[in-house]
Parts: sequence; structure tokens; C-alpha cells
Amino acid sequence: MKRKLLSLTLAAVLALSLTACGGGGSDTTTTDSTDAATTEESTDAAETTETTETADSGEVANADKPLVWFNRQPSNSSTGELDMTALNFNENTYYVGFDANQGAELQGTMIRDYIEANIDTIDRNGDGVIGYVLAVGDIGHNDSIARTRGVRSALGTAVEVDGAIDSTPVGANTDGSSTHVQDGTLEINGTTYTVRELASQEMKNSAGATWDAATAGNAISTWSASFGDQIDIVASNNDGMGMAMFNGWSKAEGVPTFGYDANSDAVAAIAEGYGGTISQHADVQAYLTLRVLRNALDGVDIDTGIGTADEAGNVLTPDVFTYNEEQRSYYALNVAVTAENYEDFLDSTVVYAPVSNQLDAETHPTKNVWLNIYNAADNFLSATYQPLLQNYDDLLNLNVEYIGGDGQTESNITNRLGNPSQYDAFAINMVKTDNAASYTSLLSQ
Ligand code: BGC
Repeated sequence: MKRKLLSLTLAAVLALSLTACGGGGSDTTTTDSTDAATTEESTDAAETTETTETADSGEVANADKPLVWFNRQPSNSSTGELDMTALNFNENTYYVGFDANQGAELQGTMIRDYIEANIDTIDRNGDGVIGYVLAVGDIGHNDSIARTRGVRSALGTAVEVDGAIDSTPVGANTDGSSTHVQDGTLEINGTTYTVRELASQEMKNSAGATWDAATAGNAISTWSASFGDQIDIVASNNDGMGMAMFNGWSKAEGVPTFGYDANSDAVAAIAEGYGGTISQHADVQAYLTLRVLRNALDGVDIDTGIGTADEAGNVLTPDVFTYNEEQRSYYALNVAVTAENYEDFLDSTVVYAPVSNQLDAETHPTKNVWLNIYNAADNFLSATYQPLLQNYDDLLNLNVEYIGGDGQTESNITNRLGNPSQYDAFAINMVKTDNAASYTSLLSQ
């Protein structure tokens, strides 16, 4: 790992801050009380740490410390083009997410399979049109775009613009006149059915937070009040919004609702008529998020405990993830969760067994990691991803400070990275995929 000598003044400041926060010497015993907190106060908890050695992290420039982007891939929110500058910030920079296209196709197929299997009862008003509404998470987020495309493509409602499926929300389209979609047709048992996207909308609240469940709850009230009997399917880019619509309307009406993420509450709701969801293998992603940092901090091959078993026996098989070297990106693979298999997915916060072995504290001494969640109110990240991270940080001997953002501005988060020198590594979940420089500029100072 490249190291830079810091100026004497800076070194003095660092020495002070390391004494205050524990620094991560090898004889460190760290209480994990930082875990639950999503505020900056959590560094204080590290005062309970007894450090007997000076952390060598003090010698590493912040710009050279391991950095992992997760859940929001640095990319242009209009074109989807990857931000390779951010992904190559230093030699220990990676992205961890999931395979958005494979998952989107699975979600679309899951909905189409459901329609085919329930064709006798699906058309609630018998008008010959299978109508669905769609909750869109964030029109500038490539995962959200992929899911909208996956649903439209499987249901035959997709239209192409410049060689790619249009993912623009239609607003209202009860008459089928929107140019962003077309009426699809499905051939089932020799009969041709029309499928229409009746309405879709980006679920962004007035303060600017995207993937907003409350906004989706309001949308389904409006939609159902004006054309409720035409809605045969509710589809959503995620479970947070899907469950808001299910609880607000479709559960009582018996209208199948489909989401994404396999959050525990959504999986449980399958027993009550929620149509299905997709697991993006958050248990694998949360592990990868922290594991790449651990490996970089240990100075070992990045594949250790990932594609290659570590000394504790942790290893992932190729059926759960892929690594794209050129994109510096790890992608977990998705699994459909439906009435047939949901009982295996009831707790979304359980660590993935093949990578659940504790690392030895002598050879993998405690290190300090700064990690943010773009929006503390995001259902998936707060109910599934963060609890998983908190399980893995213990296993990997990482002392993680969790910062929860407001989902609106990058500065709400970056303001709480006042002294990056206190940390050995960083895990970042941006508000907007274009904004990587808001973080890297702080690390480069
Ligand atoms: C999840 C959404 C979440 C979003 C936040 C997606 O991967 O599926 O539920 O809101 O990430 O960036």
C-alpha cells in the first residue's frame, strides 16, 4: 500500500485524534456500542477502547485509504455511464452492489408468471385489460431504471428510445395514450390479453427524498380512488414503496403487489397476499462491502474470503456474486422470493452461512471504518442492509461508525466526515450517483 508522510503538524493532530478514538492497534478490545448509533456521537464510544499501540493508519494519507462505494454506483444519473474516476479513486477502491439487469429480468418474469398462473381471476373488472400501476424509486438511479425496464419488458409494455427501453414514468395512462409505454399483449392458453401500465410515478417527497414509501402510499390512494377497479397488479421498484401500497390499499382489495429487496416485512406479507419480491442477496453484499475493506487493510489479495477461502473458511461461490475487474465492481446475484420459497427468506438480517466465520483478532486487528447510509429512513438500507453490516463488522473485527443521512443532500453526510484521518477506511452510499466527488474531494485534502 502506498504511504505518504504527513507534515509534523498534521501528525500531531492525528496522534491526538487517534488517542481519542482508539486507532485500531493490535491489542485493542473494542466494545461494539458504536453499532446501533447512526449519529456522529458514536465515535465517543470508542473512548472505551484501550489502545496500547499507535495505529499505523496515521501514516496513510486519506486519499490512499481503502474506499468502497455501495448500493449507489458512481455513475451519470442521466446516461448511466459509470464514473470511472470515482471507481478508480485509488488502488483500493471498489463498488459493491448487485446485478441490476439480472434482478430486473427476474422481477418482470415473476410478475408475468403470476399473471399466467392466475389468469382466470386476475382481470378484476373483466374488461379484458390487465392493468398495473408502478412505483418508481429514483429516475436517476440505475437500479431503479433497470427495474422499470424489466417490468415493462416482461409485460410487453416497453418502448425503445435511442436503442434502450424508455424508463420514464407515465403519470396517468388509463386510456393507453402515453408515448413512454405501449399496450402489451400476453398470449395465455390461446387467448390474447392486453396489458396496460395505468399509471407510474417517481416516489419523491417534497423535500427531495427518493424511493419514498409515504409518497407511494399517497399515490395508491389517489390512483385507487379514480380507477381502482382497473388495477389488477401493483408493481414497485422496491419493497418499502410496495409495502406502503399493499398496506394502504391492495392487501384489503386482494390485489397482488410485487416489490424488490426481500425485506423481512415484505417476505412475511407473502403469506397475506403480497405477490413476491426479489432478494438482491443483501447478505452477500453487506459481507463484500466490509470484506474488501478488511482485505485491503490487511494487505492481502482482494479475493481472500471472497472467491478464495480465508483461513477461517469464509468463501463465496460463483452462484452468488460476480466481479467485474474493469468496473472495479462486485455484483451479488438476485433470487426471486414467492409463495413457493418465502419461508426460507423470513429474516433478511441473517448472515450468509458460508461467510459467517469469525476472523482471528491477532492477525486481523480492529480497524476503524466510517460508513454512511444515504437515508436513515430508507427501508431496505435501514431494515436489511445495516443490520447485516452490523453482524459482519464483528466477524471481521471492524469498528464501524454508522452515519445516517437525510436522503436529500450530500452535505448532510459529508458534514459528518469532519476528520477523515480518524478512520482507516471508508464505505460510502451517496445520495445521488453523480456526487462521488463530494466525498473524494474531502479525502484528497
Ligand atoms: C434498493 C432500494 C433502496 C435503494 C437505495 C436499492 O438497491 O432496492 O430499496 O431504496 O437501493 O439506493
